[in-house]
Amino acid sequence: KAKSRSRYVCQNCGYVSPQYFGRCPNCGAWNQMVEEVVSAADNKKVGGSLNGISSQPVALDAVDLSDNKRIPTRISELDRVLGGGVVPGSLVLIGGDPGIGKSTLLMQVSGSLAATSGQQVLYVTGEESASQVRLRAERLGVHGKNVIVYPETDMDLIRRAIKEVKPGFLVIDSVQTMNEPALASASGSVSQIREVTNELMRIAKNEGVTTFVVGHVTKDGAIAGPKVLEHMVDTVLYFEGDMHHTYRILRAVKNRYGSTNEIGIFSMEEDGLHVVDNPSESFLEERLPHATGSAIVVSMEGTRPILVEIQALMSPTLFGNAKRTTTGIDHNRAALIMAVLEKRANLLLQNQDAYLKATGGVKLDEPAIDLAMAVAVASSYQDAEVDPGDCFVGEIGLTGEIRRVNRIESRIEEAAKLGFKRIFVPKNNLAHYQPTAKIEVIGVTTITQCLQQAL
Ligand code: TYD
Ligand code: MG
Repeated sequence: KAKSRSRYVCQNCGYVSPQYFGRCPNCGAWNQMVEEVVSAADNKKVGGSLNGISSQPVALDAVDLSDNKRIPTRISELDRVLGGGVVPGSLVLIGGDPGIGKSTLLMQVSGSLAATSGQQVLYVTGEESASQVRLRAERLGVHGKNVIVYPETDMDLIRRAIKEVKPGFLVIDSVQTMNEPALASASGSVSQIREVTNELMRIAKNEGVTTFVVGHVTKDGAIAGPKVLEHMVDTVLYFEGDMHHTYRILRAVKNRYGSTNEIGIFSMEEDGLHVVDNPSESFLEERLPHATGSAIVVSMEGTRPILVEIQALMSPTLFGNAKRTTTGIDHNRAALIMAVLEKRANLLLQNQDAYLKATGGVKLDEPAIDLAMAVAVASSYQDAEVDPGDCFVGEIGLTGEIRRVNRIESRIEEAAKLGFKRIFVPKNNLAHYQPTAKIEVIGVTTITQCLQQAL
């Protein structure tokens, strides 16, 4: 009988050691080392090529490019994030909080791919029963014999099913529930996740099965398991948004076959996810036109300008230190803008609690939102209304200067398209600007100047 021995694996970073440490010597995390029993079988390579063909070294010029074509999923916002469609034989990892809509998205993708590609989709679920999956599919309007549901977690059986069904696409929901029986450790452990992902990569590459994998996220928002998981796969998408809002945002954090700039915007309805065709309009839908503490920014999300409302609420601090609370906006950026307003625009904000929010559940993280943030704060503090036909774009420097931002033309055009009357932009951006759009463009050089003109 094969001898087994123990090893210790850090559940945070995947570091392996023959010895136990209270604190991982690699990543420094405490109490993350977990004992795993290594049997002789673990040292053998699990798996192996299904069709017996292994790849060969080949000259760069002779590499076959034909299989780099993309297959559109026909879900336009997903295709946008993927860079036009999914690359055949690639492995796409989708992470997100429980209940955000990962299974829903992948069922809709399965239905669409099965209907348009003529190939079968094998939907493996370790989380739900076949009937649960069917109930959801019916709600989503996904039918057809080309989506094969397989409630299973054993990778040996899944390998066999792939051999029998020969699907064009594979969905694994989720990687944490899958189990490679040759390994002694439990499902969801670092070693299992790593080995299952390895195996899925091999299946995707060698058999050309395009694979989507769901990954659960931990409390701090990373995909559970070692960070190496994200390094192993081709594409990592995060599905995010406020569970209590209808909007969901799909973001690429890694894409071997395209840019990581684009976001996809969906709304979660009774019958599943719908693409949002005109995000600016949707995000402004609930705006109160004459409220104070609200300013509109044209933010670039990838190559697409989107109008978002930034809200600020200032109220006198009752005791202790002034609070700064933000939703969808970086906390440090908010603190910096408040300090600049205090010092350069003479607003006494240090005894004010501040609440800042990007509406619609979006996260804004580009410098061009500074100006709208400052205007919203000043508007709330002075109880002065911002004209509902105004919008703002510009980065604010520490001396209160308004700094240039990128893609000013497309921002101005989008604001004009939505019927805004005036847009405040950095004056430096206008040196070569040819007015085309039907909107008044106002160049500003300092925050004081902007506040004087806007409030
Ligand atoms: P789900 O896809 O199961 O999330 P995940 O796989 O990421 O955990 O989505 C669950 C939520 O979505 C659930 O709270 C109900 C809601 N939902 C709808 O609003 N409409 C629908 O058509 C479906 C299928 C789910
Ligand atoms: Mg799910």
